[in-house]
Amino acid sequence: MGVLGRFGKYLPISEHTPCVNLEEGSTPLVRLGRIGEELGVELWAKLEGCNPSGSFKDRGMVLAVAKALEDGARALVCASTGNTSASAAAYAAHVGVPCYVLLPSGKVALGKLAQALIYGAKVISVDGSFDRALEMAREASAARGLAMVNSVNPYRIISQKTGAWEICESLGRAPDLHVIPVGNAGNISAYWAGYKDFKSWGRISSLPKMIGIQAEGAAPLATGRPCPNPETVATAIRIGNPVSAKTALEAVAESGGQFETVTDDEILSAQKMLASRAGVFAEPASCTTIAGLVKLSRAGKLPKGASVAVILTGSGLKDPDAAMSQAGRPAEIGSSMEELMEAMS
Ligand code: F0G
Repeated sequence: MGVLGRFGKYLPISEHTPCVNLEEGSTPLVRLGRIGEELGVELWAKLEGCNPSGSFKDRGMVLAVAKALEDGARALVCASTGNTSASAAAYAAHVGVPCYVLLPSGKVALGKLAQALIYGAKVISVDGSFDRALEMAREASAARGLAMVNSVNPYRIISQKTGAWEICESLGRAPDLHVIPVGNAGNISAYWAGYKDFKSWGRISSLPKMIGIQAEGAAPLATGRPCPNPETVATAIRIGNPVSAKTALEAVAESGGQFETVTDDEILSAQKMLASRAGVFAEPASCTTIAGLVKLSRAGKLPKGASVAVILTGSGLKDPDAAMSQAGRPAEIGSSMEELMEAMS
């Protein structure tokens, strides 16, 4: 029934809010038995790539767009490393308003670029970082009166809390550890707020430790140092100056969690591990979670038997180039059975 239908009574909507619905949310929470066993934990993965535009962004976008329409917005604007733009473009198309998206030139995965274009957004490629594109989008929003649908829009974060609510409903409790990639830092802030909601409503008795994972080349929160030139294979989280830094730091501190960094090599091997040992294909940014768990486990810092939820934020199909860089190649044969038998041996 979509996020507004399922959770509407807990969200700031009224009879004046248009009921936008692309059947987002209610994503699978899958037990990763083989990988969990290797790591010595009870491992659950929230497959946010199963959302309509293939990433978690749809959860927050649906409310941001509904409220923008309610407020009379005639067009949307966002900056993006790819997924926000795909989501904004999809919802803009669904409700029939124009959408402008600003992307850091040459740094957006192919699938995401294809999405923004085919959904019909006006796609503008900026010769600069995501952080600069975001500043420009904010100025354009103010100058032109466009609805800004980045996570600076509070409705995005409010509605992204539904991911935490769903996990608690599925497990009947909160996990011990919540492991999540961190870029602009909105999602970790939203999940922490969502868990705290469920606790204050008496629906769960304990809160998880929040473990935020950043790529080593784009780790302003993990290192506590600004990162003017972020670089990582996980282009979704190639961000040097996170908008929600303060709330993300609070989430980690209040929950007794931590930030961790992982290298590009660790991210790519985690992607392969997740695909080949769990049958789950997630984009590189999402795989920082598995890479982070492997790293913590090797350092002996993963509590045995803990229940762990990882948020796999986007589908692997979004970034075929990253996957092909390490996936191997098909065996090429002619059309004879002899060659087939040989190839299969
Ligand atoms: N994972 C994926 C697949 C993402 O696309 C993003 C952010 C994150 C994790 C990090 O989430 O920013 O809330 O900390 N993507 C944004 C975008 C920046 O423009 O699509 P965050």
